Amino acid sequence: MKLLAGVVIGLLVVALAALAVAWSGVIDMSATAPSTALERVVGTTLADRSIHRRAPRARNPLEATPEVLRTGLDHYRENCVVCHGAPGVAAGEAAKGLNPPAPDLSLADAQEPSDGELFEVIGHGIRMSGMPGWLPTHTEREIWAIVAFMRHLPSLTPEERRALARGGEAEEEHAAHHGGEAPAAGGDSPRP
Ligand code: HEC
Repeated sequence: MKLLAGVVIGLLVVALAALAVAWSGVIDMSATAPSTALERVVGTTLADRSIHRRAPRARNPLEATPEVLRTGLDHYRENCVVCHGAPGVAAGEAAKGLNPPAPDLSLADAQEPSDGELFEVIGHGIRMSGMPGWLPTHTEREIWAIVAFMRHLPSLTPEERRALARGGEAEEEHAAHHGGEAPAAGGDSPRP
């Protein structure tokens, strides 16, 4: 009985001390401060397990046809390049201030998850990390097209790199494409 009371009091003291530390503000939550190993391990493990549990088990229902890759590229340029960049395409300034950083999605680590896991991350995002969820603004088909394009990132053609690096100019094409006209891959208008 005495032992139990000791354990309970000990746990309470530890919990109160942890609360006092959190409340004092000494833990630096700014994005420009380095993250602690504890945060990284806890954050990454929680996110990985949550994604694995919720991800659809199916493979990508879309074939990586030129039309699907073009749709994926359009969305990737509009929504992802700013934080993740692409091989040969620099990310925007926002990326330099992100903590955790947005990884290079062409690397083996980022390519390792299943299609369903990528769908889950891209569709629903990762809370408190800066990675937004895109299902509130995109259809499931568009998310699968982005997954297909992500698989294609390690083997971009020079034309695709140019198309990704282009900013607003491609906007009209984006709109036209959504109107149902599917331009052939790489068949976009020349740069001014
Ligand atoms: C505002 C910045 C931002 C934008 C925009 C963004 N991401 Fe992310 N993304 C992140 C950050 C930050 C992480 C890392 C999260 C972490 O480590 O917990 C991440 C993680 C990911 C991951 C998991 C990578 C891994 O290996 O852990 C994938 C996949 C991903 N993003 C895809 C995309 C796609 C596709 C888009 C565009 C539709 C996109 N992201 C747009 C910031 C962004």
